[in-house]
Amino acid sequence: MNSDISEKKTAPQQQTMRRYYRWQSVIYDLTRWTFLFGRNEILNRLPITNDLKTMRLVEVGCGTGRNLKRLAGRHPHLLLTGLDVSADMLRRAAKATAMYSRRILLLEKPYEQFLTRPEQAPDIILFSYALTMFNPGWEQAIRQAHTDLPDGGYVAVADFHDTRSGTFRWWMGKNHVRMDGHLLPLLESTFTVEYCSVRTAFFGLWRYVLFIGKKQ
Ligand SMILES: C[S@@+](CC[C@H](N)C(=O)[O-])C[C@H]1O[C@@H](n2cnc3c(N)ncnc32)[C@H](O)[C@@H]1O
Repeated sequence: MNSDISEKKTAPQQQTMRRYYRWQSVIYDLTRWTFLFGRNEILNRLPITNDLKTMRLVEVGCGTGRNLKRLAGRHPHLLLTGLDVSADMLRRAAKATAMYSRRILLLEKPYEQFLTRPEQAPDIILFSYALTMFNPGWEQAIRQAHTDLPDGGYVAVADFHDTRSGTFRWWMGKNHVRMDGHLLPLLESTFTVEYCSVRTAFFGLWRYVLFIGKKQ
């Protein structure tokens, strides 16, 4: 795992994430399947072709590598990069994806600049339950994805959307998640919509969004 983070130059949002996931990383995979809905569906909907063409996917905020592992197992010609600011989450990702380590690069860094040569530009950038935790930073991240993708590239997002419950919004805020329906307008104005669905969860307690957009 490559690290590009030192405490000194880490922004407050990233420090918060590193602290939060120090312990949450221990229970993350045991607990998150109960409420991070739509992750499998967004993976199933990714426009990945299983012909011999090599495709590149970057997951921003890859966490414990749950999505990277599934994608690597399914698509033998896919090259994957996972970015995250939490070393604790990435340690778990490295273990979970060890069998695919030749095709998965894990980077301990925030998504600020993703410097690649044009021929190595990602075909797909995935944000799975990451953007609602980028506070501040979600707008820059969406714009950065647009910059990093080539024409015809895709952004894919699964994330919380909103809630009518003030108590639930407060509780999610305590867990560093913003639930104000704020992602979708910027995603829709930045990318051409290929797929978009807002779904209810837990009998309407909150809604989550699945979005696939194309850079034209
Ligand atoms: C809720 S987890 C999602 C993990 C994984 N994508 C999934 O679907 O299970 C959010 C992840 O985003 C990471 N994260 C938060 N802020 C970040 C930032 N500015 N840059 C990169 N990763 C960040 C956190 O460390 C955490 O691992």
